[in-house]
Amino acid sequence: VSPAVADPLPGPAGGTQTAITAGPTSTEVHGSGPALTVVIPVLDERDNIAPLVRRLSDSLGDLRWEVLFVDDDSRDGTAEEVTRVARADPRVRLIVRLRDPGLANACIQGMLSNTAPVLCVMDGDGQHDPAYIPQLLAVLESAQADLVSAARQPAHMQRVLAPGRSLLSRLGNRLIRLATGRSTQDPLSGFFVIRRGAFLAAVRGLSNSGFKLLFDLLASRPALRHAEIPFQFRERQHGESKLNALVLWQFGLLLLEKLSRGWLPVRVMSFVGVGMSGLLVHMLVLYLLMALGLPFLPAHGAAAFTAMSSNFFLNNLLTFGDRRFRGRGLLLGWLAYVAICAVGLAANVSAARWVFDRTHGLVALSALAGIVLDVAWKFIISDKLLWRPRRR
Ligand code: GDD
Ligand code: MN
Repeated sequence: VSPAVADPLPGPAGGTQTAITAGPTSTEVHGSGPALTVVIPVLDERDNIAPLVRRLSDSLGDLRWEVLFVDDDSRDGTAEEVTRVARADPRVRLIVRLRDPGLANACIQGMLSNTAPVLCVMDGDGQHDPAYIPQLLAVLESAQADLVSAARQPAHMQRVLAPGRSLLSRLGNRLIRLATGRSTQDPLSGFFVIRRGAFLAAVRGLSNSGFKLLFDLLASRPALRHAEIPFQFRERQHGESKLNALVLWQFGLLLLEKLSRGWLPVRVMSFVGVGMSGLLVHMLVLYLLMALGLPFLPAHGAAAFTAMSSNFFLNNLLTFGDRRFRGRGLLLGWLAYVAICAVGLAANVSAARWVFDRTHGLVALSALAGIVLDVAWKFIISDKLLWRPRRR
């Protein structure tokens, strides 16, 4: 990544203004395209759009900027509202995505879909004040950093966030510091500026899922020069937060992956965890059906089928949530999964018998061999075939 260019940027009005880093070449500084693209992921934020654009305009003055809203097919008319605002202001742009929603990958999509030498990412709900952007840019320039983030202050967070969430956030930060090997004050912030070159160098190594893009960038690129400024985290203006249990689960997985420097295959752990929950389901259904008067064998069979199904739906949500089946695909996926389980069971039994014969009757070892083969088979087929990534 090239160091900051100290050249101040001439504004359209002719006068100089706060220097914004140009990235690789001076043609970018003196050209007429945007010098800064502000990428804002939005999901059901209709009422926040117009005030935000006004605030951006007030804060960025005559810097050559544009704002790019990335909408995941909101139901509340967010895209229509952006369109309305954009009709009156050519600096406002819109991307609408119909598939694979997600905060981090919406940001990545937006960051890839523009040509500015510097990118800013911020939330579209009013919690991030554009008034801090000039300061972020100034630090990017003066500190010779590649990435400058705005850190929420612990005192404000306690006031703005629910008590449980602020505690969670602090605990998360501890683990994250361990995982990134950096002493970042707020690695979960969603408000930062980054040089285009630094982002492009990092983008193919990102995990691309969940909420935590800044963390992903910091953990994936040790060479990235990072600086922070403090900022006042405000309350959401309209609408509600999209952070939910699934988002937290995904973040837990991402954290484990980074903590183990990629050695712990998190999908496998998730898959095995779901499998264990299946054991519980199996026992529950078995005892329930037998209590209802069913004999052991049919009850056991029905319990196995229920556990398989519950495993399928949980894996669809938790282990392969980013590639999950929806709608009609769900039924086909479910049937395919049951078939895969049946094959796994057959392999399980014959492997167990093979070990049993060779070891002259070591029961635990034989059973374990069968189970390991069974789970490994199911995982590999699930990962490579059933929920295979739809990427190049
Ligand atoms: N396109 C798109 N797709 N946008 C989304 C999605 C999505 O799936 N989910 C959320 N957003 C948008 C929201 O509309 C909002 O503009 C922004 O992303 C942040 O979402 P919130 O739902 O307001 O998140 P939060 O305030 O709870 O979370 C904030 O704090 C986290 C750390 O605790 C965000 O700043 C996160 O980035 C941050 O990691
Ligand atoms: Mn928010």
